[in-house]
Amino acid sequence: MGSAITGWGDALPDRVVTNDEFAARLDTSDEWIVARTGIRERRMGSTTSELAVQAGRAALKSAGIDGADVDLLVLATTTPDQAIPATSAAVHHALGCRGGAFDLNAACAGFVYALVTADALLGAGHRRALVIGSETLSRVTDQEDRSTAVLFGDGAAAIVLESGATGDLVLSYDLGVDGSAASLLYADHGGHIHMEGREVFRRAVRTEMVSIERVLADAGIGPDDVDLFVPHQANVRIIEAVNERLGLPMERTAIVLDHTGNTSAASIPLALAEAADSGRLAEGDTVLLSGFGAGMTWASAVIRWGRRGLPR
Ligand code: ACO
Repeated sequence: MGSAITGWGDALPDRVVTNDEFAARLDTSDEWIVARTGIRERRMGSTTSELAVQAGRAALKSAGIDGADVDLLVLATTTPDQAIPATSAAVHHALGCRGGAFDLNAACAGFVYALVTADALLGAGHRRALVIGSETLSRVTDQEDRSTAVLFGDGAAAIVLESGATGDLVLSYDLGVDGSAASLLYADHGGHIHMEGREVFRRAVRTEMVSIERVLADAGIGPDDVDLFVPHQANVRIIEAVNERLGLPMERTAIVLDHTGNTSAASIPLALAEAADSGRLAEGDTVLLSGFGAGMTWASAVIRWGRRGLPR
């Protein structure tokens, strides 16, 4: 038996922070931020658990199930509410889930890591998993540092995975990490994000390309077979560079970073949920997911969209 994505939902804080708001107090401009990143505004506020609960609730509703129907919760986050306990414990309690729950930190690749992990655990006997990406990066960003403050935003999105589908959800995947590059992007406990942007950019393009080529080959497909590409939303120039080199058209690529900024582990599910909500995904579509981030981690997967889950 395979699994299927039977529901999705997202949550963004109410507070919109525009580029002009930064330009009013930092040495930056709307023109620079849009031209160098593609970001026009981002949302800030709330907590990682609150956003996760909101997105999780929306995903459960969309799947037509209750928290008690869920027997596995995986929360991808790099900004947990506390060092101890895991933020997933509070989310599990608030949603009334059953079974186990754990946080997974693979930075911006976290959601794809979580999806692949949950799919494997459904294969091992779990019935329904709630997979959430939730982040409050504004809490760990120095709002006075123009080189990072303008990049990050807060948000969450979730999907429900159910076993009992006729085919496989994950057609191929590639998970990786290069700990030798950890110093390129880090935040100490209680500290702020430090990033060597130019080098992260260079590695992101190179790493994503290799990883995507690998999962396409493993799935036995080419770029033309991808109905929707859902990349990590860090910088539109990274996405354009990858697309150009691989022959993936921007028209078949989901972009939300213009209004969310980089939301790390929440960025891929946010883009996936928006695409699904706007009718861009149809039964049987082939979807390519790819993310990279602090670690440096990366994760790509080819998935099949829209198969029926367990009988209601
Ligand atoms: N406004 C105006 N100027 C700025 C700003 C700003 N907000 N930020 C930086 N600059 C300046 C720099 O100081 C530099 O000035 P200098 O030449 O006098 O030193 C100049 O702009 C160019 O800086 P670069 O870093 O070369 O600019 P670049 O075009 O590379 O863009 C950016 C910077 C947007 C950070 C880019 O490198 C990037 O997107 N990197 C990848 C980030 C990423 O993908 N992170 C993913 C993982 S996130 C995670 O895991 C949590």
